[in-house]
Amino acid sequence: MDIRFQAGGPAAWKADIALLFVCREDAPADCQPELAEAAPWFTISPGLRDFRGEKEEKLLLYGLPDLPLPRLLITGLGPREACTLDVFRLAVAGAVRRCKDLGLASILLPASALAHLPGGGLRLLEEAAFAACTGLYNGKKWQNRKDEEKPDPEWLAFAFTEAFVPDEARVMARRGEHSARAVALARDLVNTPPNLLSPAALADQGEALAKRHNMRCEIFDKAQIEAQGLGGLLAVGAGSANEPRLVVLEYCPAGCEGQKPLTLVAKGLCFDSGGLSLKPAQNMHHMKGDMGGAAAILGALEAIALEAIPRRIAAVLACAENMPDGNALRPGDVVTTLAGLSVEILNTDAEGRIVLCDALCYAQRRFAPELLVDIATLTGACAVALGSQIAGLFCTDAALTEHLRVLGAAVSDHVWPMPLWEPYKDLLKSEVADLANIGPREGGAINAAIFLKQFVENDVRWAHIDMAGTDRTEKGSALAPVGGSGYGVRLLVELARSTV
Ligand code: BES
Ligand code: ZN
Ligand code: ZN
Repeated sequence: MDIRFQAGGPAAWKADIALLFVCREDAPADCQPELAEAAPWFTISPGLRDFRGEKEEKLLLYGLPDLPLPRLLITGLGPREACTLDVFRLAVAGAVRRCKDLGLASILLPASALAHLPGGGLRLLEEAAFAACTGLYNGKKWQNRKDEEKPDPEWLAFAFTEAFVPDEARVMARRGEHSARAVALARDLVNTPPNLLSPAALADQGEALAKRHNMRCEIFDKAQIEAQGLGGLLAVGAGSANEPRLVVLEYCPAGCEGQKPLTLVAKGLCFDSGGLSLKPAQNMHHMKGDMGGAAAILGALEAIALEAIPRRIAAVLACAENMPDGNALRPGDVVTTLAGLSVEILNTDAEGRIVLCDALCYAQRRFAPELLVDIATLTGACAVALGSQIAGLFCTDAALTEHLRVLGAAVSDHVWPMPLWEPYKDLLKSEVADLANIGPREGGAINAAIFLKQFVENDVRWAHIDMAGTDRTEKGSALAPVGGSGYGVRLLVELARSTV
């Protein structure tokens, strides 16, 4: 669906349907004088009598068929004080999906109708564009059975009372559209079956992204990973016929060459069977999403490049498949990481930290980051602690912590501060190596974060995001069908846009 614009005021507006969003406190006909002018018939429509403006309440009204705006869909937002951006996004996505179900080709959303909502104006324009496009996301690519689904609407136009579309409005709507495309990319990657997305195929996706946007991209294969000393990544990938890859991307728009880069690091486990410490069969298929961190970074880079955000950004993705076979990593093995620290493997299912420590070390040596952020589906313990809507944020820099928390809340990629509790370092002691790869079950997410911290130089500003559990949506909504959520994409885009 295209995002378009219409200017010239109510008399010039035209589409198959117009959308209106109202809080419980507002009377639809009063709060929208422009729409009342464009479609005067709706203000005397008897159906309005029973509309309460409750959350998710919808009212579809019809005018005469050959009018420029022959239909109106009113969606309730509930009480004004509880109308968060999340409520607004869901309402927009739900309304657009309803238009699709009706088989309509064109949708009009008066920008002035957003101005009177909480958080109003330009910011809502971005979120409306995002939600309208994201609501149409459908990851079903591998089903021959075609549901009797109507085609997507051709376009949604934001309509303005001014003679020209304001430049800032265009910018904000495009932002939302770009974010939607980026989230769709991340969702597609997470949803792709693991037999169709090997580490090499994931690396190819990185290369394709780089080609689309003129970024630098280097892909290291197994031999190069070994030669460069990334013993952790090599060991984790050893049990799979699909060999590991290290993907290094660099986005550097003109004029940013002198900057130290914002450096993003991710776990890209295309499948995590647990290895010889095999996972239980139940839900093992969800471990195709264990590259959710890598997907978030690729999605974010897509949006960052589409918007030409003026900042140097580097990304390092550790891609592998964790499988049991004759060459697989064994419990008891000792691997030497790129940093030189030896790690005793006590559980091959704690593989994320083993690939990440090499990626973190590589990223620091290669890029001397201005800011280092890693994102990974790292521990089930984090999902147990925070559930599927919030990721764990581990960071000793208070300003950076608060910054990420606020950014995440604005785009619904929520993060919550978790402790990097130094004393737990003792729990990672090994009898035979410098470090063990697991601690006790208790505090599992913290133990993993403390493990990673051993590989971060003291003076580097670093944040670790454990997004286990948020990579998938289990309960579908208008904004996201069951499956890959695209978590982290928008948070990283906002981070790239901002300074801390
Ligand atoms: N990929 C998993 C973590 C995970 C769990 C992600 C659930 C998404 C949803 C990770 O590699 C893992 O298996 N971690 C182990 C660590 C343990 C052996 C110390 C875990 O969480 O059980
Ligand atoms: Zn694992
Ligand atoms: Zn894993």
